[in-house]
Amino acid sequence: MAESDKVFAGSIPKFYDTLMVPLIFEAYATDLAALAAASSPGAVLETAAGSGVVTRALAPRLGAGARYVVTDLNQPMLDYAAARQGADSRIEWQQADALQLPFDDASFDVVCCQFGAMFFPDRVAGYAEARRVLRPDGRFVFNVWDRIEENAFADEVTHALAALFPHDPPRFLARTPHGYHDTALIREDLGRAGFTGIEIETLEKLSRAPSARHAATAYCQGTPLRNEIEARDASALPHATDRATEAIAARHGDGPAAGKIQAHVIVATR
Ligand SMILES: C[S@@+](CC[C@H](N)C(=O)[O-])C[C@H]1O[C@@H](n2cnc3c(N)ncnc32)[C@H](O)[C@@H]1O
Repeated sequence: MAESDKVFAGSIPKFYDTLMVPLIFEAYATDLAALAAASSPGAVLETAAGSGVVTRALAPRLGAGARYVVTDLNQPMLDYAAARQGADSRIEWQQADALQLPFDDASFDVVCCQFGAMFFPDRVAGYAEARRVLRPDGRFVFNVWDRIEENAFADEVTHALAALFPHDPPRFLARTPHGYHDTALIREDLGRAGFTGIEIETLEKLSRAPSARHAATAYCQGTPLRNEIEARDASALPHATDRATEAIAARHGDGPAAGKIQAHVIVATR
């Protein structure tokens, strides 16, 4: 993983929350929140919470006396999440690296993490940290994207940018968000971290955008792909977004666009 892959800062949080979240994250957040809430947990830790799409779905499902600690590596994402959430005395916001959690052993019933594990530089270490802070029988509930070929817009944007930068194609989307899709490896990593009772479900959904430009702007400007494009040419962002728009429009038309998305949803018991 490149260093810039984990930087969600500057203009990224705003574009991420307003464009990316409705496009591909909201639908999976509803499911993940239902899974996390299913055991009526008294204490929940969310890691890699980003701009808070799961937090907004899960908080209403938790009991009045629940403790809900919401964390992310990047403070600008967490600021965005906290501003959207509104006052809720059950929620504690805290910047934290999922690989070095500043919490006691056995202090949560559920750890949940939506589309964050792909960003962990060492997944076994990240899973072991989640397991450490879980109580006996606690559950780690998380999801990861399937391979990029199963995720239409991401694949089309990646091909369009490879044509624009043929000597040094920006591969963020393939390398990181879509780079950890092997379910055998996920099981093995969880097992090495000490988890038992691992369940994995592959879930296909449809991503809907008002236009090809909307989807292209989301990927090119609302993710760390933006960092990669700007590193190649500081002024290339508008042109790169145009090329990605053309690629999506060529497949899905100029009007509202719908593309397949697919992810693995995992529940691992301590
Ligand atoms: C694709 S976003 C997912 C955010 C949110 N869970 C959602 O569903 O919209 C990935 C998030 O992982 C965070 N992240 C990256 N590395 C991390 C780490 N080591 N520990 C905690 N969070 C991390 C990023 O800041 C970013 O907010």
